[in-house]
Amino acid sequence: MPAVEDKFLWGAAISAHQVEGGNFNNDWWLFEKAGMTFGEGTSHPSCDFFHHYKSDINLLGALGCNAFRFSVEWSRVVPSPGEVSAEAVEFYRDLIFSLRASQITPLVTLHHFTNPVWVAEAGGWENEGTVDSFLHFVETVVGEFGEEVYWWLTVNEPNVLLLLGYLLAYWPPLVRNVIRFRRALRNLIEAHRRAYDLIHQLDSSCAVGFAHNMTIFEPWRTALDKVSSQAHDYLWNKLLLDKTRDKLDFLGVNYYTRQRVSFPLKTFPHPEKRVGFAEWEEYPAGLYRCLKRVKKNYQLPVLVTEYGMPHGLKVNPVEYLQKGWGFLKNAMREGCDVRGFFYWSLLDNFEWREGLAVRFGLYKVNFNSQERTLREVGRQYAKLIEQIGLDA
Ligand code: BGC
Repeated sequence: MPAVEDKFLWGAAISAHQVEGGNFNNDWWLFEKAGMTFGEGTSHPSCDFFHHYKSDINLLGALGCNAFRFSVEWSRVVPSPGEVSAEAVEFYRDLIFSLRASQITPLVTLHHFTNPVWVAEAGGWENEGTVDSFLHFVETVVGEFGEEVYWWLTVNEPNVLLLLGYLLAYWPPLVRNVIRFRRALRNLIEAHRRAYDLIHQLDSSCAVGFAHNMTIFEPWRTALDKVSSQAHDYLWNKLLLDKTRDKLDFLGVNYYTRQRVSFPLKTFPHPEKRVGFAEWEEYPAGLYRCLKRVKKNYQLPVLVTEYGMPHGLKVNPVEYLQKGWGFLKNAMREGCDVRGFFYWSLLDNFEWREGLAVRFGLYKVNFNSQERTLREVGRQYAKLIEQIGLDA
């Protein structure tokens, strides 16, 4: 990997559909319109990042961050097959230039859970043709912004997308079918592999990875629980990495939690360590274990592309951040090649099926007035960045 961008990246992350507002042309908006989200709110206007990005960049800079992870919304840039929206391209160009003008390094995700309606209607990730459609989008984005962007993530958490979309019928396209799951898995792997080659072909100075949700699985009690836990671990953590290892310059690690496993397929948090969201357990040490594992088995540089906790639940996001940083530091001392850390998330935003109720922001957002207020976790993050500095 070329050592062009060798300073430690301290950042925060967002994704287009969760913050921009106005994304009316993708499968998630159809899902929301059909009343499928719980709790209050939809993705529009959310934090209306589309109109507030300049001031939000200032908020990011005020924390001392020197990097920003965001995604480019496929349905905005390519609203119908073959059509490229000049307005959307201009929006992302100005976003990237504004970041660069503030000495903030962009980390760009090309797919963060949403598909354009025309892609979803053609069968989404089950359709082999979606790989070509995605590559056309990738070619457009990298052609426009390749000179300004060094760090690319092809796909965000393909394991989460596949599990919730194709096995648990919890997210669009609401499928519960192993054969259809396998088809989507194969196409997503292919999409990453070919996007990796394409980005390198178009841009000689870049680093390409994907954002992998890594979770610790631990057997609950019995030997059978252990077998089941190993199977979960293989499917969740290992499979995608093994299939893409030769097409990765670095790995994005999104870390949140540990799961206990009992035979045959049950996963759950330790009853005393429940966070109160998404069956998560409070287990910051898992970050250390994931980083050590990537070093041992894959020898890849890592960006921690997501880490954080929601507010108002049983875990304190400030403590979770401080503990997480401690574990990350230990991993680095023991030789893990970590190049950056991105807190999830810069702003409260649209938390998918859970709507606007679950709030992860370093800044609290009033979704009516669009006012942003720095939270304690934001203050502590800024302090941490100041103490450690950019040489980490
Ligand atoms: C996703 C984000 C999401 C976060 C918190 C990650 O799995 O990439 O989009 O908001 O977790 O649930």
